[in-house]
Amino acid sequence: MKISVIGCGYLGAVHAAAMAELGHEVVGIDVDAAKIESLSAGIPPFFEPGLPAILASATATGRLRFSTDIADAAGASVHFVAVGTPQQRGGNAADLRFVNAAFEALAPHLKAGDVVAGKSTVPVGTASRLSARLESTAPGAVLAWNPEFLREGFAVKDTISPDRLVYGVPDGEPGALAASVLDRVYASAIEGGTPVVVTDYATAELVKVSANAFLATKISFINAMAEIAEVTGADVTALADAIGYDARIGRRFLNAGVGFGGGCLPKDIRAFTARAEELGRGESVAFLKEVDQINLRRRQRVIDLIVELLDGQVNGKRIAVLGLAFKPHSDDVRDSPALDVAVQLRGLGAEVVATDPQAIENARVRHPQLKYATDANTALQDADAVVLVTEWPEYTALEPEVVGERVRGRVIVDGRNALDAVAWRAAGWTYRGLGRR
Ligand code: UDX
Repeated sequence: MKISVIGCGYLGAVHAAAMAELGHEVVGIDVDAAKIESLSAGIPPFFEPGLPAILASATATGRLRFSTDIADAAGASVHFVAVGTPQQRGGNAADLRFVNAAFEALAPHLKAGDVVAGKSTVPVGTASRLSARLESTAPGAVLAWNPEFLREGFAVKDTISPDRLVYGVPDGEPGALAASVLDRVYASAIEGGTPVVVTDYATAELVKVSANAFLATKISFINAMAEIAEVTGADVTALADAIGYDARIGRRFLNAGVGFGGGCLPKDIRAFTARAEELGRGESVAFLKEVDQINLRRRQRVIDLIVELLDGQVNGKRIAVLGLAFKPHSDDVRDSPALDVAVQLRGLGAEVVATDPQAIENARVRHPQLKYATDANTALQDADAVVLVTEWPEYTALEPEVVGERVRGRVIVDGRNALDAVAWRAAGWTYRGLGRR
């Protein structure tokens, strides 16, 4: 099929390459010339495992190209809109200016029978507004809402073989057409057993935000239990294991620690709250404000533990911060708890040396004042304390004895509960996790 993908960020670039990998003819379009130049050269402008390989193979077949010219979408009959919906400056709601601009720019290039599939995470009600607008700007084109559930770090796999496909479509003939076109786009996943939920616009939009709200709630639930564990001497990791054996609860997304960040969960729960308030149903998701608060408190808890372990004397102390990305296998520092901890410790007068296998450049753009080390050994050298905030495998594999030889003080805060507390203590470290004895 001939496909255009509007917006080539974390979501769109992966979608474009994955669709070409599946055999479709794809043009990826973005207003950012540097991004398009990089993608055209086969170099992803961000770190995503597996993406360079499919970019190279799809480009070599001639099925994938990139452009800054929206008119290049005209040759396609399916158009995915995958632009960002960041948090509004000074507010909690989603900023829809990129979505609106993409639809306005795309409309003149659409033909009757084309399907536009919205992938961006939007407030419920957006798709029906955009569909009404398309009726006048692109008569005969049909809008579907087809949310994306990919996780950074697993984006290629999540796109090629997703857990589920959701199509929000209008009633009647146009909706049936849009659903059948999307079935053809995703034929290989569907043949592989991926379930498809065909529904209305509002449900499709809500599936995405409620899935992220649920995941955020699950993480904050276990982090709330960590807070209780901290005042009772209980161990949140053992607790998570025990409740996780209940299949109704499940162990995944029950890792207590410094909490969630990234370009999705934090802003999506805030935008959902703002939208529910606009709809007069703020009370229905008021708990998401608590979810957000619990999450942000965990960052402060990591700071407080460091301050406590350094006997209140943080000023001038050298602190190695292991991790900057919001999670391993990503270079994304948007709303990253790790970067936040590094910045706050520096604010307290510490000499912070932060490191990350992939995220230093992105962190440096936002916080040039921080000191960065390209490898963990340099960051750890002569540290008075160490804080692990992103559980990259190379950090969780560190040997306490070996690290102990480098540092000045054997003090470590494990902000991800990812280290073997017994082994670190046995090597003479003062070890503190979150919600653990
Ligand atoms: C998330 C959703 O998982 C995905 O379906 C959606 O499309 C986009 O948002 P992503 O932001 O890539 O994906 O990251 P995810 O793997 O969900 O992790 C989010 C954050 O939660 C990370 O900061 C991670 O460290 C944290 N987390 C995750 C925990 O603190 N504890 C856990 O048990 C799991």
